[in-house]
Amino acid sequence: MLEGKVVNLRVVEKEDLPLWAEWNNNPEFRGEYTPLPQESKTELAKRYDNLTPDSKWFFIEKKDGTKIGGIIHFPVGKLLEIGFALIPSERGKGYCTEAVKIMVDYLFLSKEIVRIQAHTDVRNTASQKVLEKADFKREGVIRKSMFIKGEWRDLLLYSVLREEWKEPKILTKAVAES
Ligand SMILES: CC(C)(COP(=O)(O)OP(=O)(O)OC[C@H]1O[C@@H](n2cnc3c(N)ncnc32)[C@H](O)[C@@H]1OP(=O)(O)O)[C@@H](O)C(=O)NCCC(=O)NCCS
Repeated sequence: MLEGKVVNLRVVEKEDLPLWAEWNNNPEFRGEYTPLPQESKTELAKRYDNLTPDSKWFFIEKKDGTKIGGIIHFPVGKLLEIGFALIPSERGKGYCTEAVKIMVDYLFLSKEIVRIQAHTDVRNTASQKVLEKADFKREGVIRKSMFIKGEWRDLLLYSVLREEWKEPKILTKAVAES
């Protein structure tokens, strides 16, 4: 488990897949700006079984262990990308900002990578604020790059480079590698 001040990140285990599937297919959880996969439990389980070390799924948990969202990392070529979402009732309380900071520490401490990136819909202000508060820089607009709810949407590409991160904000090397 990766421990922050207000949230922890806990790796999703096989027995957690029913909840993960329920959230993943729930339009309110996915929000206005992310596609709804409508993936069956069997398809999700297959994807889980085929995860590589560069792909990991974590629950975002409050300190009392309540599961309030998810954050993942996955490879894009040789780069790593992150994605995140919270249940609606727990949004706007700063939880996701800390979850992203923990993830950035974890990835730079445990992997030989120079960059972490994220995409977000140009209209997704909350997501952009989370990324900017976690020191990601806006790189530009990727026009009509994702088909969401019947239309091609423009996405923003964000990234944080290792030299900008400089040092861990929350985790230590020992924790990230344990
Ligand atoms: C994006 C998301 C994860 C943000 O999580 P969160 O825990 O609410 O984020 P935080 O509380 O850490 O910070 C959110 C910031 O955005 C602001 N915000 C929240 N909702 C907003 C909205 N609808 N419009 C504008 N700003 C908003 C908050 O006020 C806060 O800014 P502040 O610190 O300046 O006050 C959450 O809204 C969510 O799950 N959305 C649905 C899934 C999604 O879009 N995921 C991202 C895909 S790229």
